[in-house]
Amino acid sequence: MFKTIEWKENRVIILDQTRLPEEEVYRTFDDYRDVAQAIKKLIIRGAPAIGVAAAMGAALGALHIDTTDPQVFLSRWNEICREIADARPTAANLFWALERMNKLYQQNIDRGIPFVKEALKKEALRIYREDIEINRRIGKEGSVLVKDGDTILTHCNAGALATAGYGTALGVIRAAWEEGKQVEVFVDETRPFLQGARLTTWELMKDNIPVTLITDNMAGHFMKEGRINLVVVGADRIAANGDTANKIGTYTLAVLTKENRIPFYIAAPTSTIDLDCPSGDKIAIEERSSREIIEINGRLIAPEGVKTAYPAFDVTPYRYITGIITEKGVATPPYHKTLPELFDGRAPPKH
Ligand code: MRU
Repeated sequence: MFKTIEWKENRVIILDQTRLPEEEVYRTFDDYRDVAQAIKKLIIRGAPAIGVAAAMGAALGALHIDTTDPQVFLSRWNEICREIADARPTAANLFWALERMNKLYQQNIDRGIPFVKEALKKEALRIYREDIEINRRIGKEGSVLVKDGDTILTHCNAGALATAGYGTALGVIRAAWEEGKQVEVFVDETRPFLQGARLTTWELMKDNIPVTLITDNMAGHFMKEGRINLVVVGADRIAANGDTANKIGTYTLAVLTKENRIPFYIAAPTSTIDLDCPSGDKIAIEERSSREIIEINGRLIAPEGVKTAYPAFDVTPYRYITGIITEKGVATPPYHKTLPELFDGRAPPKH
């Protein structure tokens, strides 16, 4: 089995997702700036995986701060966190992970720089291990919603490649499959970066889970034909009212499910829920380069110089969402009540 990201001998190893499915290339990073660039360039992508990469990148940066002066250490540490935070704006998990690392820094800095460096490294590894465990729990919570014989549509990649392992939306599918349910997965290709075509099919085929690749504009047709029973996707940020940002095209799917009376579920860890964000219109949507639209594999598919628009995510209003599957249970409407309950009285994560 492949590893999306790994910490080895004080280096970060990342499976280069821009090279899949042609080549399984692992890249080794020993400079946090390169980890930030890897996040920016989608070498590693998917909200939980970005969170893990951010934590490991920050730990890597801290290890290399060469000073015995706590003031100098603090200003370098802040710089590292800022640079990593700037890599991508939408995924809540990036900011959640950095917040968690920063909290640990503050709790331990009085114990000296060598101690804090070690503690930051351990925290990054904890975030990594916890993510796999959380995804397995999401899988268990969600698999009860999957019936034997279901055909499930998913969008983008919310699998092992988008997390430390196992996946969120694909975690639900994997768990159902492991329980012996005969499921089939329809995967949207997910233009323009083709996460569905390149990554989700690749992962599911490795697990021998039946998969059918379709282009994005076919989803409505298959829903109308009665071929899809369930839609499960991941999330990049979930606002307090349940509005959910996910890969561009998710909103279109959600609207289609309503028209065709198909359940539409989000699967995400609670670290993706941003209770400080009241509604979807407050979520920052990343705009990416037009090159990703006008080129495929370096080859022009539209005239050079054509004007493009490229929001990398869209927001699905809460009213289209049947339920939000988390490691702490499935939240159902009204989300402004049920999402805070997932944190059962404890402070929700800060982003
Ligand atoms: O631009 P990407 O590939 O990082 O976008 C990823 C998605 O939109 C995923 O669906 C989301 O991050 C959930 S991953 C478990």
